[in-house]
Amino acid sequence: MKKPVEGFSKLTKEQKIEWLAENYFKNSEEGIKILKQYWNNDTGLQKLHDEFIENTISNFYLPFGVAPNFLINNDLYAIPMAIEESSVVAAASKSAKYWAGRGGFKAKVISTEKIGQVHFTYTGNKEKLERFFIYVKPILIDDSSSITRNMNKRGGGILNIELKDKTNDLDNYFQLHCTFETLDAMGANFINSCLEQFAKTFRREANNYNDFTSEEKDIHVVMSILSNYVPDCLVRAEVSCKVEELNEDKNISPTEFAEKFVQAINIANAEPYRAVTHNKGIMNGVDAVVLATGNDFRAVEAGVHAYAAKTGKYTSLTHAEIKDGIFRFRIQLPLALGTVGGITSLHPLVKLALEMLNNPSAKELMMITAVAGLAQNFAAIRSLITVGIQKGHMKMHLLNILNQLGATEQEKEYFVKYFKDKTVSHSEVVNEFNRIRA
Ligand code: MEV
Repeated sequence: MKKPVEGFSKLTKEQKIEWLAENYFKNSEEGIKILKQYWNNDTGLQKLHDEFIENTISNFYLPFGVAPNFLINNDLYAIPMAIEESSVVAAASKSAKYWAGRGGFKAKVISTEKIGQVHFTYTGNKEKLERFFIYVKPILIDDSSSITRNMNKRGGGILNIELKDKTNDLDNYFQLHCTFETLDAMGANFINSCLEQFAKTFRREANNYNDFTSEEKDIHVVMSILSNYVPDCLVRAEVSCKVEELNEDKNISPTEFAEKFVQAINIANAEPYRAVTHNKGIMNGVDAVVLATGNDFRAVEAGVHAYAAKTGKYTSLTHAEIKDGIFRFRIQLPLALGTVGGITSLHPLVKLALEMLNNPSAKELMMITAVAGLAQNFAAIRSLITVGIQKGHMKMHLLNILNQLGATEQEKEYFVKYFKDKTVSHSEVVNEFNRIRA
């Protein structure tokens, strides 16, 4: 039976690895070798990574790829993507090229409001609380001026603070519902710092408020935290062309393609089981850009899926229609992204990814990311309604299977040719591999 370890974070990196090897690795030598294989020779860079989190023992690499030829609002972009799934960058590149020949992507930011809340309980007269709130609101804003000064100077800051009565949902539960404009920062630290100050001021002022009884003064702040649900931090991207221009797929007419495409989107809107997979495909593109640009993909994921379910039913993030002979395909989703702060100026690869995108503002990055999601969805639906998803997917996955089998470079070349006109399947690769090795 293993014993809990004391003071682990205080051990050196080597000591942590030793401890792991002793307690958890099947083959200590091999485990240590793998961990050290991923260390960076540049000690400065390694130290930077070591200090991103606690207990760093190695680095976890993901492929960093690029999808070129994205025509967005008449500018050409090469979009950086960090992702492990074989077919994602290939699919994005294919979509980019397809739409570059049909007018490109049009994108616009609809709103950029972020949200944070101070959750508290209050037992007492509600009208008195409302009167207290009117009194305290300017003090909340004043007291946080040292936090908001710089953001205010740049044109952002606190947009509003509202008192919300949530007692219908939970006994004695109220909140300060606060909205912010954080410009090019994702804003989590800024928002949380403001909220914690609001909470402090709110309690202090309640305690000194003469109209409150001693019970009413005793406001309990449960927590102060930003919300990753940002339905008013929205971006839209779209493509459109004449139906007859949807003419690249050999075995399907443009009209049938357009109609089947719209039907596929309608199915995602009608059926949550399909909608989840449909949106997962969109997030293949979104997350890859979010990661490559050093943004918080967990926050984006949580916010996007909540948005997809905002009506109470989980539906598609994309929409398609045919009207007057024009095929239109669009996405609308919330994206709270930053291009300053966080690791954006620390992580050399993130810095380079942003440079590749011409050092975008947060709004520009929202548009680029939404386009990556739309492009990914177009590629997925296009495959699904024509040749099926496995052809392209397995073609890209072929090298993974061959690597697992320990194929040589020569054998890999052979297999790429062998499967040129065939659909790749795991068993077919293994059979053929065994055959040629025999
Ligand atoms: C795979 O990662 C994503 C797809 O399943 C998306 C979809 O079905 O639309 C291909």
